[in-house]
Amino acid sequence: MRLLVLGGTHFLGRHVATAALERGHEVATFTRGVSGEPPEGVRALHGDRDDPAALPAALAGWAPELVVDTSCQTRAAARHAAAALAGVRGYAFVSSLNAYAHWPPGPIGAEDGEPTRTGDEDEYGAIKAEAERVLAAVLGDRFLTARAGLIVGPHDRVDRLGWWLRRIARGGRVVVPDALDQPIAAVDARDLAGWLVEVAEQGRGGAVTTTGPVGMTTLGGLLDLCRTVTGGDAEWVPVPEAELLAAQVEPWLHLPLWLPADVARTAWDVDTSRARELGLPGRPLRDTVADTWAWLRAVERLPDPPHGLPRPGLPAELEAALLAAR
Ligand SMILES: NC(=O)c1ccc[n+]([C@@H]2O[C@H](COP(=O)([O-])OP(=O)(O)OC[C@H]3O[C@@H](n4cnc5c(N)ncnc54)[C@H](OP(=O)(O)O)[C@@H]3O)[C@@H](O)[C@H]2O)c1
Repeated sequence: MRLLVLGGTHFLGRHVATAALERGHEVATFTRGVSGEPPEGVRALHGDRDDPAALPAALAGWAPELVVDTSCQTRAAARHAAAALAGVRGYAFVSSLNAYAHWPPGPIGAEDGEPTRTGDEDEYGAIKAEAERVLAAVLGDRFLTARAGLIVGPHDRVDRLGWWLRRIARGGRVVVPDALDQPIAAVDARDLAGWLVEVAEQGRGGAVTTTGPVGMTTLGGLLDLCRTVTGGDAEWVPVPEAELLAAQVEPWLHLPLWLPADVARTAWDVDTSRARELGLPGRPLRDTVADTWAWLRAVERLPDPPHGLPRPGLPAELEAALLAAR
């Protein structure tokens, strides 16, 4: 079938385009064309989805039957997609756990019982929630929204796992939060991408929380895997939360994937049973870590993070000060 990826030149969208090609679809991507091009074999359509005329112009003569939407970051983008693509057979949309009204901290129960954010503030979760409503209103049960948590894997521009891999590969004494038993759940971008193509093909509808299962690993388990995969001699130097916060270490940003204990207590308690019922796969985390490391070693220049996000990681002077104190 003709499958359109909104996005498709980076990370998740790129894996969607690859998966769709592998499943025999005729694939096009729609992007501005400013930050890269899609994989070979894909028709590259260009335009800004915030411009109401852009999608209709790009799609003249090429009418998609299926859509996977990885690039929606504004209400206007959702409105314009709803206007141009209401007739497709299946539309899989990438949303976020942030669309839920009460997360973080959580817990998040089954999708149908969990309210999503309302209100017109210019905020990521509120925009994703509104975009879901706008698209569901025209597509009905042909619209599926995948509320993703942490997405990891090769081609990840956000670079949270990537930073840990590079730091751990350098070896020596590594500042880690004294919270290595904190749970972590993640989905490999390739697993999510293939599944998005499948649910679009099937014309599935509804909301699905698409993160890894509760209890899949811990922060310590993930960092140990990074050390095994990079083969370095890194030695953990656990620093208590109070000390990290007093030193202005920002959770999630300076020490990626770390959350303060009061948030972490329930932030990772997320019911993903619907995703499992609908066949969202979960490859071994070791494979994800190893493949991400292989990709990082191969890239000539690390791409900038998307949407103006700051590059994560512990600033060298902060790390030096924390290590000097112990
Ligand atoms: N990373 C995570 O852990 C995480 C967690 C939860 C949810 N999510 C969601 O998962 C998705 C990740 O998608 P991704 O990795 O494929 O995307 P991405 O790295 O954010 O790439 C965005 C794509 O959209 C295109 N784009 C950006 N602005 C555009 C515009 N105005 N008009 C048309 N195209 C535009 C970009 O190409 P050009 O720059 O050339 O236009 C690029 O191809 C996002 O929706 C994100 O919100 C991520």
